[in-house]
Amino acid sequence: MLSTIIYRSHISDEVPLKTLAKLAVEANKVNESHNVTGILLFNGTHFFQLLEGPEDAVLAIYDGICRDPRHHNLVELMRDYAPARRFGNVGMELFDLREYDQAKVLQAVLDKGTSKYQLTYDDRALQFLRVFAEATERENYFEIPPGDAWEFIAESSKRSLKEAVAATDDYSFVFQPIIDPLSRQVVSLEAVMQPASGVSSSEYLAQLPREERYEVDLKSKKLAFALAKKLGIDGLTLSINLLPMSLVVVPEAVDFLLQEIHANGLVPEQIVVEVTENGAIARADEFAAAIRKLKASGISLAIDDFGAGSAGLLLLAQFQPDKIKIDRNIIHDVHKSGPKQAIVQAILKCCSSLQITVIAEGVTKPEEWMWLESAGVCHFQGALFAAPELNGIPAVAWPEKVEAW
Ligand SMILES: Cc1cc2nc3c(=O)[nH]c(=O)nc-3n(C[C@H](O)[C@H](O)[C@H](O)COP(=O)(O)O)c2cc1C
Repeated sequence: MLSTIIYRSHISDEVPLKTLAKLAVEANKVNESHNVTGILLFNGTHFFQLLEGPEDAVLAIYDGICRDPRHHNLVELMRDYAPARRFGNVGMELFDLREYDQAKVLQAVLDKGTSKYQLTYDDRALQFLRVFAEATERENYFEIPPGDAWEFIAESSKRSLKEAVAATDDYSFVFQPIIDPLSRQVVSLEAVMQPASGVSSSEYLAQLPREERYEVDLKSKKLAFALAKKLGIDGLTLSINLLPMSLVVVPEAVDFLLQEIHANGLVPEQIVVEVTENGAIARADEFAAAIRKLKASGISLAIDDFGAGSAGLLLLAQFQPDKIKIDRNIIHDVHKSGPKQAIVQAILKCCSSLQITVIAEGVTKPEEWMWLESAGVCHFQGALFAAPELNGIPAVAWPEKVEAW
C-alpha cells in the first residue's frame, strides 16, 4: 500500500546550510533504492518533508530521520494512504522556498508534483504543503528547548498518614496534586480510590453488581474526605471522582456528599467532582438534574479524561463544567504530534470562550509540559511533577531552568 508521512522540524543551530544539498543527494540515493519518493521544503529555519512509498520503507526511513540531530522539534503532521504519488519523479528533492517570490512559490512547488490533484488541492497532503509554503500557520510552531533544559527538583514536604483512617479492607485512596508549575502553586489535590486487589478503581467498580456499584462509588468518598481532613489539606481544593450514574442512581447522592463534606470540616466550594464522559449522556436529563443540585450546593464539576469517552463535544454542549481534564492519551507525546496539537488547541480555544479551566493530566515528559505551557495550558497533573501517594500528599518536583539554557 502506498503510504505517506509528512512532518515539519526546526534545523539545528550548528548545521551549515551549505551541507543541505549533500544531505538531499544522499537521501535521494537511499530513497530511490527503497522506492520512496517525496519532497523536502526548507524556509531557512524549518523543514517540511513529504515521504511516500511502500509503508515499511517509509517508516524505516522516517525512523532514521526522527533520530537525526541535524534537526529538532519534529512534529508529525500526517500519516495516511494514497492511491498515487504526489511527487513521483525523484527519491528526494530539496526545495528552498527562499529562492522564490512569495506569490509564485506554491506553484513552483506544485510544478514538481506528479499528482492528478495538482490543480484542485483536494488532497490533505497538498493542503499541508500549501500551508507550509505560504507560512500561514507559523504562529502555531512552538519551539521548545530540549527536555534537559529544565530540572525537576522535589521539595521535601511529603505528608503521609501513619495509621489508616477508618480504612476498609477493599480500598484506600491515593492523592495526587494538580499544580501550576510556573507559579509554583498546588491548585488542587485529587483523591483516587485505590482498590486493595491492585486493579484500577474503574475496574473494581465495574466488577461489582450494578445495584451495588454506584452506592459503593458514592459512599467511598466518606473515606476520601476523612483522609483529606487527617492529612490537613488547608485551603486546597479537593477533587473526587464519581461515575456519572452514581449521582443519578443513588437517592440523595448530593446530600450524602454535603453531609460528609461538613462532617470533615470541609466546605462545598472546596470540592470538585470529576466525572468521565462515559455514561453521562445515557440518562442526560437525570444527570443534568443531579448536576444542577451539585452546582447549587457550591460543589464544582470537572469532566475527566476529556476526549477519551463517547460523549465528548456533545457533553460539553449540554453541560459546561468548571474544569476539563484532557485525557492522558492526547497529552502523551503531544510535542511530536500535529493531530494532538490541533486537538489541544481547539479544546483550549473552546474552553477559553466558555471560561472553563483546562488541566493536562498524565504529563510524564518535560517536552510535553513545555509544549502545553507554550500553547496556554497552566494546570498540570502527572508523574513528571508528583506521582500519586497512598494515604498521603506527595512532594512536588518543581521545574527549575538549567543555567546553560
Ligand atoms: C531534514 C532531513 C531530511 C532527511 N531526509 C532523508 C530522506 O528522505 N531519506 C534518507 O534516507 N535520509 C534522510 N535524512 C537523513 C537521515 O536522517 C539519516 O541521516 C539517515 O536515515 C541515516 O540514519 P541512521 O544512521 O540513524 O540509520 C534526512 C535528514 C534530515 C535532517
